[in-house]
Amino acid sequence: MSMYTAKIEKKVTLSTIAKMKGNEPITMVTAYDALFAKLFDGEVEMILVGDSLNMSFLGKEDTLSATMDQMIYHTQAVCNGANLPLIVLDMPFGTYTSPKMAVENATRAYRETNAQAVKIEGGKERAYIVEALTQNSIAVLGHIGLMPQFLRSDGGYKIRGKDAEDIAALVEDAIALEKAGVFALVVEGVKEEAAKAITQAISIPTIGIGAGNSTDGQVLVWSDMFGFFETFKPKFVKQYMDGAKQIRKGLEAYRDEVKDRTFPSDEYTY
Ligand code: KIV
Repeated sequence: MSMYTAKIEKKVTLSTIAKMKGNEPITMVTAYDALFAKLFDGEVEMILVGDSLNMSFLGKEDTLSATMDQMIYHTQAVCNGANLPLIVLDMPFGTYTSPKMAVENATRAYRETNAQAVKIEGGKERAYIVEALTQNSIAVLGHIGLMPQFLRSDGGYKIRGKDAEDIAALVEDAIALEKAGVFALVVEGVKEEAAKAITQAISIPTIGIGAGNSTDGQVLVWSDMFGFFETFKPKFVKQYMDGAKQIRKGLEAYRDEVKDRTFPSDEYTY
């Protein structure tokens, strides 16, 4: 049994997360609605309202067409469901291409939801955007390595940190983002050695996804980790339950009982 099985009882803040580096692994999952956010409340330190919802919930091929309206709507729902985790709104593609636009959109995220931070993808080239946000009192979670919003410009999903040169570039990105003020950094789809080098190079927590076991925390997309998203399963996803199979089993039982008139029985009838 883990030495950290106790439920989270206090609201998680930016300073809680900062203090966890080097002390206790940080747990983060995605959520997109109040129903699941409520189930995750008190179980994980952070919830990300990820633009991955564009794929898992809207059925789109990638995350690029997610909109600010959509992210705000889903973040409001998540904030209605969960009180304790630190909630992060994922800024969609094209909503932070200039400091002005980033500040306007992130300010909207703060004004219209109870999210405590926003996430943006990008390395040192985006540090000036992070600076603009943090100077306007908006907390930012960075995201480097494999960045789904760069899918088309990168020519596909590519694992990073395969050689010394790329590891050095990733470390440089991490340092620039830390200097610009991100409070933590998602590190996605990188070789373990790269994730370790990044984690050791900065004093803020790293949260890995497909980045091995050396980061300060882990994040998974809930519909992947519980086996609901069947379109594909990346190597790094561990399925903690077979959600899709369970739903189908339940649905088949319901259909059979309706068809043979065993549901609703007296027990379920007024
Ligand atoms: O959108 C998302 O769910 C994400 C995670 C994969 C980190 O960005």
